Amino acid sequence: MATATSPAKRGGDTSISASASASSSVSVSVSFLAPPGARLSGYDRGSRPREQPAGIPPVFLGAMHVRERVFVREFGVPLENEFDADDGRCCHWVGYFSSSPSSSSSPSSSSSSFSSACPGGRGEMARKPVGALRLVPFPHEPHPVDGGVYFNGLLRNAEELGMSATSTTKTTTAATTTTTTKSPEATGDAVAAAADTDGPTTLHDGVEPYCKLGRLAVLPEHRGDGIAGAILKDAFRWMGEKDNKTFLGEGWKGLVCVHAREEMAGLWARWGFVTDEKMGRWMEEGMWHVGMFRRVEIS
Ligand SMILES: CC(C)(COP(=O)(O)OP(=O)(O)OC[C@H]1O[C@@H](n2cnc3c(N)ncnc32)[C@H](O)[C@@H]1OP(=O)(O)O)[C@@H](O)C(=O)NCCC(=O)NCCS
Repeated sequence: MATATSPAKRGGDTSISASASASSSVSVSVSFLAPPGARLSGYDRGSRPREQPAGIPPVFLGAMHVRERVFVREFGVPLENEFDADDGRCCHWVGYFSSSPSSSSSPSSSSSSFSSACPGGRGEMARKPVGALRLVPFPHEPHPVDGGVYFNGLLRNAEELGMSATSTTKTTTAATTTTTTKSPEATGDAVAAAADTDGPTTLHDGVEPYCKLGRLAVLPEHRGDGIAGAILKDAFRWMGEKDNKTFLGEGWKGLVCVHAREEMAGLWARWGFVTDEKMGRWMEEGMWHVGMFRRVEIS
């Protein structure tokens, strides 16, 4: 299990060191990217990470590399759905696997072509992005509808659920804006307009600001090595630092939500999350999800 240590600094692309369970020539580090905002304005959602224009933060490219391998290639999410306008206002964490060229314990990986674009070369440690997580600050679109079937953020079965035109419109307005613009600012306006439409659920009063963790992914060949754990540990430590509250929205008091793949509810429960029964279950991009919450102590 990798254990993260303190970061050198915060607020840009920064790294922390982490010790991994593997040999001394292999290590895992976690890098943090503060909300990249307009630096993602040139991101082409129809192209793969290595085909993106110059100027996209390398940590974000690393996150998209992992997300593309896991959610697009493994789970079949369309490439153009994987990037959304929330990415600009999110904090991102990326776990990097480093190995010296002479290491014989380095797992084989089809991502080696991406790692060649990362720091490290002959005689140096080559870094390869292997894990990712993002944190979406408040506000958010309304909680998903119990039994809803969502594709690219749009509710597809509102009629079948007997939803009124008004509630359907509110949901799809925010989602449509999210998926058709690349401007984080525009998305913020849309979700702000929709944020007060939440009704109370079991664990959320419908009003309190919360942040949302998502897009947790580790490349298949690196699973079970504690990489997600190292990323989550750093993310929770970061969220607990009061100086970072400014990133998380006015009035944030430590409430964190996750839309968990149903099969992964056990993992989130290990990290203190409790299932919100009233949120029910819904389908996103063909996968059943449940809502879970926990609170972070801020010091
Ligand atoms: C979920 C995922 C990120 C875990 O990555 P990982 O690096 O293998 O996880 P770790 O090795 O750090 O394990 C973290 C902890 O979660 C536990 N865990 C992992 N998968 C689990 C599962 N399916 N159910 C319950 N617990 C699980 C581990 O046992 C470990 O617990 P421990 O620290 O008490 O030993 C990885 O399996 C993945 O990318 N899956 C596909 C994408 C996905 O489902 N993402 C989550 C969307 S909600």
